[in-house]
This record gives sequence, structure tokens and C-alpha cells, in this order.
Amino acid sequence: MIKNVGVLTAGGDTPGLNAALRGLGKSAMYEYNLQLVGFYDGFRGLLNDRCIIMDDSSLSGILTIGGTILGTSRDKPHKMEVGGKSQDMRDAMVDTYHKHHLDALVCIGGGGTQKNAYGLMEKGLNIITLPKTIDNDIVNTDVTLGFDTALGIATDAVDRLHSTAHSHHRIILVEIMGHNAGWLALGAGVSGGADVILIPEIPYDTHNIAEAILERSRSGKHFSIVAVSEGAMSKKDRKREQELIDEKQDAKDKKEKRKVKKVLEEFYSHQSNHTIRLSRDLEQLTGLESRVTILGYVQRGGIPSARDRLLGSMIGGSTAALIAEGISGVMVSVKGQTTKPVKLETVVNKRRIVPADHLWVKTARRVGTCLGD
Ligand code: F6P
Repeated sequence: MIKNVGVLTAGGDTPGLNAALRGLGKSAMYEYNLQLVGFYDGFRGLLNDRCIIMDDSSLSGILTIGGTILGTSRDKPHKMEVGGKSQDMRDAMVDTYHKHHLDALVCIGGGGTQKNAYGLMEKGLNIITLPKTIDNDIVNTDVTLGFDTALGIATDAVDRLHSTAHSHHRIILVEIMGHNAGWLALGAGVSGGADVILIPEIPYDTHNIAEAILERSRSGKHFSIVAVSEGAMSKKDRKREQELIDEKQDAKDKKEKRKVKKVLEEFYSHQSNHTIRLSRDLEQLTGLESRVTILGYVQRGGIPSARDRLLGSMIGGSTAALIAEGISGVMVSVKGQTTKPVKLETVVNKRRIVPADHLWVKTARRVGTCLGD
């Protein structure tokens, strides 16, 4: 009997998503006799029943294309903006699922999507998720789809900034994405030979960074590349953040909680230009000219790397196999050279950050890179 399967891509896009859709869709069609329905724009398409039957023609020619042919959004099923109000729309999504007589729904996304998909699983749907984010911060998988491409782009940027920093005898700070995890900045910093790498997991002291840069100058190297994770923070700011988080938690009533929440929001908003402020501070402390490059969405765009195409094809195909076996409630994780289903509840509400004793951290220190601590 033919099984009907739905699929959606949610959260920030990454290169490799189309490879995963193709891997899932082609395996579903050719190998397992499954019919695939793709919902547009993440959970929003599931709510509004905007979809397409994913047949051979829609799955052809997409392997090397970045982004997602289904579109994506950051909509949360339990907190959806509908009619100007934030509403729990999970029941309406359950209706769409049954309207299409789906046997399973595949949700491809990052940490938020894992949680949102779990919320639909709690409503009785057969859910399978795939781990996708350039941040590489999902637990219980060795790697996430899109990380390799983003790492390549960020490393290329670090490489290219070397020659211009060298020519002008400048400090160049390059801000790299990754949300609250330092995998991308650390990976690109080590691969590209950045002189300083700042990640959220290791709060920094600006004076230590300035001293490392001056030490390079004294040894005849009059330029420095600083790879800064977008979530990196000084020790002082990290302390202040923690104080506010504690205050919010200990607030005695709703009014006080709202007040602290506002201060915390202002704190994060001020943090958003921390790389620019750090650049100014370093210029002052070292007397060297300093410039900033914010890589931003370039890291999420364009052609997926060979590794992400391979990974997407692999986890997509494995997902079709699991659905054919009647398995659900799992995330298809990557373990070594193979894929493995892991229970979805072991993944949700967790974040994989860089451990202080990780080999990438040790490697950076061993080659003399300053980590700002
Ligand atoms: O999660 C991927 C990511 O690119 C993060 O690195 C970044 O913090 C965030 O998404 C940006 O989100 P948005 O696409 O909503 O601006």
C-alpha cells in the first residue's frame, strides 16, 4: 500500500536542504513506494495547506541549488501570528495532516524546529526530523546539514582577509554566525589561521586580545585577524547577562519580571554591535588601525559543498527507509560515516555548545591562537 508522507523545511535556510529533499523524495518514489507532499514555508504552509506533490520533475535539477525549493519560515506552531495575534495553531496543522491522509511528516530544521516538531508529535502525529543548521548546535548528532558549507565560506573569508590586513598593517575583525555556539567561528578560525578566535563559550578580556596583537607586532607581524562569533561576549558582559537572567528568574511578581525582561532585551540589542565596539577598543589599546567585516547571510547562501550534498542525500534517503519501516518519533542523526535514528525527546530543548576541552579549542591554543581568556 502506498504511504503518504509530508515534508517541510523550517527555520533559517542552509545549503544542502534541496539535496535532503531530493534524497528523501527520490528514495521515497523509487525505492519505497511512498508519495511525498511538500508544504511551503515551514509550518505556515502546513497551517494554510499550501503544498505541492513532489514528483520526479520537482525533484530534478535541485541537488546543487542552495536554499530550499519549499521556502522556509521561523513560524512556531504553538505561537503563530494569525490575525495579528499569537495563537496555538497545532490543531489546525493536525487537520491538514489528516486531510492528506499522511502516514508521517518530515520536518527538516534546527533546534527550534526539533522542538516545534515535537509539539506536533505530542498531538499524535508521526514525526521524523532531520538536523539542519549552519550553527552545528544540535545534540545527539555528529554534525548538522549546512555546517560544512558555511564553514567553507567563513574560512574562505578569513583567508581573503589575510592579504588585505597584511598590506595595510591592520587588525581585521570578522564576525561569523553561529548564534550562541562557537563551532563556525572556531572551525573557520582554526582552518583559516586567525590570530584571535572569540566564541560565546569562552568569555574574553579585551586587554588580553590587545596584548596578543601587540605581541605579534613586537615580533614583526603588523596585522592580525580576529574571528569573532556573533554570540561572543566579554567577561564583564557575560557576568551582567547572568545577573539579569538570575534577576528575571527570581522576580517576585509579573511586573518585576517584565521590567527585568525589558532590561535583558536592551542588553541583547546593545550586544548586537559588539564586534564594532570591540574593534574601536582594540584600535585604542593597540594604536593599530582596525576594521570590521560582518559575514552575515553570505554564510547561508549559494552552492552546497560536496559534503553537504552527500549528507543531505544520505539523511534524506535514510528517512525514507525509516518511514517505510513504520518508524517515527526520531531525528535522523549522523554518527561517523552512517546515520542513526535517535529519539526526538533526547534532542529537544538542548543545545550542543563547544566544550572547553574540545580538541578544536586545544588545537587553537597549541598553535598559539589567542582565545581572549
Ligand atoms: O541559525 C542559523 C542562523 O544563521 C544563526 O547563525 C543566526 O544567529 C540566525 O540564524 C539568524 O537568524 P535570521 O535568519 O532569523 O536572521
